[in-house]
Amino acid sequence: MSNHVIIFDTTLRDGEQSPGASMNQAEKLRLAYQLEKLRVDVIEAGFPAASKGDFEAVKLIAEKIRNCQIAALARANKQDIDRAWEAVKGAANPRIHTFIATSDIHLKHKLKMTREEVVQAAVEAVRRARTYTENVEFSTEDGSRTDIEFMCRILEAVIKAGAATVNIPDTVGYAMPQEYGMFIKSIMEGVPHIDKVIVSVHCHDDLGLAVANTLAGIHNGARQAEVTINGIGERAGNASLEEVVMALRTRQDWADFTTRIDVEQIYPSSRLVSMITGMVVQPNKAIVGANAFAHEAGIHQDGVLKHQTTYEIMRPTDIGLKSNAMVLGKHSGRHALKARIENLGYELSEEQLNYLFTDFKELADKKKEILDEDIEALIAERILRIPDRYKLLYLNVISGTVAVPTATVQIEADGQQLQGAGFGVGPIDATFNTIKNMVGTRAELVRFSVSAITGGMDAQGEVMVRLQENGFVALGRGTDPDIITASAKAFINGLNRLSYFKENPVTTVEL
Ligand code: KIV
Ligand code: ZN
Repeated sequence: MSNHVIIFDTTLRDGEQSPGASMNQAEKLRLAYQLEKLRVDVIEAGFPAASKGDFEAVKLIAEKIRNCQIAALARANKQDIDRAWEAVKGAANPRIHTFIATSDIHLKHKLKMTREEVVQAAVEAVRRARTYTENVEFSTEDGSRTDIEFMCRILEAVIKAGAATVNIPDTVGYAMPQEYGMFIKSIMEGVPHIDKVIVSVHCHDDLGLAVANTLAGIHNGARQAEVTINGIGERAGNASLEEVVMALRTRQDWADFTTRIDVEQIYPSSRLVSMITGMVVQPNKAIVGANAFAHEAGIHQDGVLKHQTTYEIMRPTDIGLKSNAMVLGKHSGRHALKARIENLGYELSEEQLNYLFTDFKELADKKKEILDEDIEALIAERILRIPDRYKLLYLNVISGTVAVPTATVQIEADGQQLQGAGFGVGPIDATFNTIKNMVGTRAELVRFSVSAITGGMDAQGEVMVRLQENGFVALGRGTDPDIITASAKAFINGLNRLSYFKENPVTTVEL
């Protein structure tokens, strides 16, 4: 059996199911290009039957990305499969990924189907998908809680019907590593012709075991791992791509597995997902967290200085964390900025570069050294944005130990200039209250966080907000050397996203 592990990235499908992490079409395409650069084998681009927006995004990604397989998800029925094929057929190497639940719990309470009916639906789905492509994946939803004999039976049937990949999800994140590993082993030993297909693992993180379970599955014969960047996904998320890949790479003495991933693209991919979705990476997150390579204890610092291997099992540069080799400032020209942007992996049009150069000059007037993180923040603000319905034009805030915090705000709303003023318990509250009254929104602020994107006294503040209105959730992000301005930008970005998601709702489909 080959030691090569196929990396199937589902950030754009399962990852996008994280509450508030919805992305628009341009953001999805941008991320797909980055995943191609990261060299994932398969990009699961979406669930075309879920909404028109999902269909369009999958179609666009299928047409543009040439160096990865593009998968589209479909329930085990004719309509979903036809729709998935319509969306994905333009890809260089398209895949249809069809699924049905197989555990008795799901059969009894959700599907209300017998085991025989489920096998029949699965076989028909695979046969239908095979009329379009040989690249068909079949998933057993809630697989880890499925009776092993029934699992072997349904897998035998779908392999006979032509599935090339069979996936065993731990949908509810219930499995224990040893147990899940043994489950995969039983499948490897109990299903006829299993050696002719790829066995895949797809683990959720409800008990914090998604990566451990994924590795246990691989150790016992699986050769595809379904993962997401930063581990984002439904509820507690999915197994994180960076953790699985770096565990395999770092512990080649444990088992000699290989992947196709360009690991130096891990950090840029993590940053991009965080910037696009507004989902902050916790500082102590393995591999990509801000503290992942920071040594605080004196004894550790001393050890690393003596020899890196004393306390470091990976180098920060392995995952693409660069020390800022070239720092820009207010005397840097357009060429230097362009070169830096290209070095960061972005390809911008001349028009985008012009806008960005203006923003860069403005920032350089306030901040002495412009680091890579600052440039990325400018790109996120200017280029990766949902088409803005609301724009911040002007903000003036009065606050202090004796003054009543007051904000005066000017915004552009649907092309019209509006001005307002208001109070609050603090300057940020005053700003948000004023903007809310001006645009007449009922959006509630349910989360607010502020951090510095680089070190130093003049670092830019990065504010993330989570807004909620009538069941819709949107995250917003804003950066500025002034944290009140950053907060206003984040709030307005959240309102823009909320308004986009309300106009382009994702129909909730029953799985
Ligand atoms: O978690 C799960 O079971 C899934 C399937 C649809 C593959 O995401
Ligand atoms: Zn899943």
